[in-house]
Amino acid sequence: MQTPMTDAKTDAKTDANIQLPAIKLEAVPSEEIALPQPDFEIREMGIDDLSPVYHLGERLFTSEQYPSLYRTWEEWEVIGLYNTDPEYCLVAEADKQVAGFVLGTMIDKPTWTYGYIIWLGVSPDFQRRGIADKLVDKIVERMIEEGASSLMMDTDPSNEAAIKFFTRKGFGNPRQHVFLSLDLDRHEYYGRLVEYERGRSERHQYRRPKRQR
Ligand SMILES: CC(C)(COP(=O)(O)OP(=O)(O)OC[C@H]1O[C@@H](n2cnc3c(N)ncnc32)[C@H](O)[C@@H]1OP(=O)(O)O)[C@@H](O)C(=O)NCCC(=O)NCCS
Repeated sequence: MQTPMTDAKTDAKTDANIQLPAIKLEAVPSEEIALPQPDFEIREMGIDDLSPVYHLGERLFTSEQYPSLYRTWEEWEVIGLYNTDPEYCLVAEADKQVAGFVLGTMIDKPTWTYGYIIWLGVSPDFQRRGIADKLVDKIVERMIEEGASSLMMDTDPSNEAAIKFFTRKGFGNPRQHVFLSLDLDRHEYYGRLVEYERGRSERHQYRRPKRQR
């Protein structure tokens, strides 16, 4: 009876003796087998990106386009989030310029932790190339690493592109939110308070400085 060891040796010998038929391999041009490389890079936002990101956001988040956005785009949105949540501030770079960005944060509640995608924007010159897709994938990976169990985003109901984009990414369960506003100047009681406060600050402004003795 042969031991398993002997079997293995025999097999090896047999393998070595096998004559493989000669197969002529056709040369395949490398560009045909190479996977398509995205023409952009996703990276962390740096200090030099603050201004390009802000100006790109200015083009994208206009008050005419998003009239009821309660959170408005301003410098502080970029600077503030870069200070508090740098790991959730990512940019997409293409053709040596900022082509898109995503800014987010993590919200900790006593019973759950969720990631909030606050701002997502891609330059019109670079849209529909999958940039937002990759930006969101990257920020979500980071949020999961930090313990997010769900994600949140919000936008104006008229923002079809964003709603389609996020729906395709798997977001759902939309909830309507009602915003009410009040023009204080026109209010009968508060209007008088506003007027009083304005007058008071004007009086303070023109008060003659006390003489130093
Ligand atoms: C929404 C936005 C970020 C999408 O960026 P993008 O890089 O063009 O998106 P992607 O290329 O990754 O799109 C992926 C998919 O989302 C959907 N989508 C994206 N833009 C869309 C549009 N304008 N209309 C319809 N569907 C759209 C499509 O299903 C698309 O896949 P497809 O191109 O194969 O059809 C971009 O349109 C934008 O910056 N809009 C203005 C700012 C904004 O509204 N931000 C979101 C709220 S904070």
